[in-house]
Amino acid sequence: MPNLSAAEIVRLNKEYTLFEWSAQAAFNPIPITRAQGVFFWDADGKRYFDFNSQLMNVNIGHGDQRVIKAIQDQAAKLAYVNPYHATEVRGRLGEMLAEITPGNLKKSFFTNGGAEANENAIKIARLVTGKHKIIARYRSFHGATSGAMTLTGDPRRWPNEPGIPGVVHVLDPYRYRCRWCGDLPKCNLNCLNHVEDVIQFEGPNTIAAMIIEPVTGTNGVIVPPDGYLQGLRELCTKYGILLIADEVMSGFGRTGEWFAVNHWNVTPDIMSVAKGLTSGYVAMGATIVSEPIAQYFDDHVLWGGLTYGAHALGCAAAIATINVYKEDRLIERAKEMGKILAQELEKLKAKHPSVGDARSIGLFSLVETVRNRKTREPMVPFNARADQMGPMALVSKFFRENGLYTFVRWNNFFVNPPLCITKEELLEGLAIVDRALEITDDSVVE
Ligand SMILES: Cc1ncc(COP(=O)(O)O)c(C=O)c1O
Repeated sequence: MPNLSAAEIVRLNKEYTLFEWSAQAAFNPIPITRAQGVFFWDADGKRYFDFNSQLMNVNIGHGDQRVIKAIQDQAAKLAYVNPYHATEVRGRLGEMLAEITPGNLKKSFFTNGGAEANENAIKIARLVTGKHKIIARYRSFHGATSGAMTLTGDPRRWPNEPGIPGVVHVLDPYRYRCRWCGDLPKCNLNCLNHVEDVIQFEGPNTIAAMIIEPVTGTNGVIVPPDGYLQGLRELCTKYGILLIADEVMSGFGRTGEWFAVNHWNVTPDIMSVAKGLTSGYVAMGATIVSEPIAQYFDDHVLWGGLTYGAHALGCAAAIATINVYKEDRLIERAKEMGKILAQELEKLKAKHPSVGDARSIGLFSLVETVRNRKTREPMVPFNARADQMGPMALVSKFFRENGLYTFVRWNNFFVNPPLCITKEELLEGLAIVDRALEITDDSVVE
């Protein structure tokens, strides 16, 4: 088949496929033809820095031959058997995950991605506890299937309602705009008291689980204050509620630890993973449960299953990807490069009056732009429509024109490069960010 031109790729994509989370007519995708390391190229040969690791998932970087070879070898040997069968790669991957996940997390149920991992997490929590309610947080995204969408707190939930019954939302530990401690020198963890109040009002005997992103992803790279996760763990234990950590985005080195919960030595009862599990080389996720939960299913049926569960290509890709994290010391590297990123973000904050906050942990970071630092008025409104994006639309355009790809969402944009990024690459990409912030600086009102 001859290669299509950039315009032809876009035309075919737009004429015959639907793009996510978008009104289709004005949507303008980049026609990508190849990718390597921290870069990808479009069909015209233009190079882009991948400063978002695609969807915060290509953690090891693009085009890693070790993972490609593992997938090829597995495809040649055994591409697929149904999930009632045992395979070498499934068993080996399960063992590896039990080793790298914290505490007594032991058995994995393999899915095709993050939403399904969360669907199965809440299904398992309901089966094991015999209770039905789930507490989730407002500033969260847990996936686009019905249950995961209901767990999601952000406005993507609204057009998808009504969802599944029994989901209750609480507020987040979002220090920059916190109603309880935003004006105080130190967080007072009142957000935990709020969660306890909600538990009391909803009835602890009706609540199966609480699900959280340990470090919130698309809703703002919200790093919880010390003591918050430990406090949630204690509350859940006190009231017989299972704690589900959605590590779909924060897992596999993104924060400078294997999993974000490791920063606070907290072990959830259930952990959902996807994204960095295979770094996007094959679609795969997993719901990982603690030993006691695993034992419950020794003599109770697990009422769930997927045709492509534990897909052999996904398992082979995940094993190879985990080996890359280990061989290339990418978790340690994310921590080290994360220090440089944090310093550089501080410099940008000092230089640009439109930077209200710049948060990071490891190579997981976000710049929050404001019109005024004192009032913290966001550069564009919460949940801004495309026609309200004003200066942020110009920032998006600037990034694209200057060969930098990242997510610009409302008044925020992300810096989440692959963990294999070098210092030189990071600084080169951040120089483009530096220039883009001149656009938002022009909209600052003193
Ligand atoms: C924290 C979190 N959970 C779940 C999901 C859903 O994962 P998937 O798109 O693989 O279904 C995402 C996707 O961005 C996510 O960020």
